[in-house]
Amino acid sequence: MIKLTVNGAPRSFDGDPDMPLLWYLRDELGLTGSKFGCGAALCGACTIHLGGTAARACVTPVSAAEGQDVVTIEGLSPDGNHPVQAAWRDLNVAQCGYCQCGQIMQAAALLKDTPKPSDDQIDEAMSGNICRCGTYPRIRAAIHQAAGQTPAAKGERL
Ligand code: FES
Ligand code: FES
Repeated sequence: MIKLTVNGAPRSFDGDPDMPLLWYLRDELGLTGSKFGCGAALCGACTIHLGGTAARACVTPVSAAEGQDVVTIEGLSPDGNHPVQAAWRDLNVAQCGYCQCGQIMQAAALLKDTPKPSDDQIDEAMSGNICRCGTYPRIRAAIHQAAGQTPAAKGERL
C-alpha cells in the first residue's frame, strides 16, 4: 500500500507500484490537468511537484511518491490565482494550451527557488518544457511578471 498526499488530501494506492504517477493522477483521481505528451521525460507536459520539486509524472513510478506531497495544477492554488497563473492570464500566454499546465508547474517551481530569475535562469529552468505553438516569449514575460509577486518572494511558503 502506497500512501501519499495529493493536493493536500491523503491518498493510498494498492495497485502496481511501477505504474506511472501520471496514470494514477489522471485515471484514478481524475486530475487531468497534467498531460501525456512524450512519455519519456522529453516534453514537460506532465510536470507536477513531487516533494516541492518539479517532476515528470510520466516517468515517475507511483512508488516514488510514497510519503510525499504531490501537487498538480489543480492544487497549485485554491482559486487559480497563484501569481504564475495570474500572469499567464494577464499575458494570454496559452495558444492551444496543451503544454501550459506543465509550463506553469515548472515556472512555479522555478520561482519558489529563484524568486527573481534572469532570462538565462528562466531559459535553463524551462528548457525541458516544449511548446509546439512557440509561446516561449510570452512564457518568459509572464515569469518575469510573476517574479516578486510569488508567496516565496514575500517569505511565504508556496
Ligand atoms: S509526457 Fe512527461 S515529459 Fe512528456
Ligand atoms: S500552447 Fe500549444 S503546445 Fe504550448
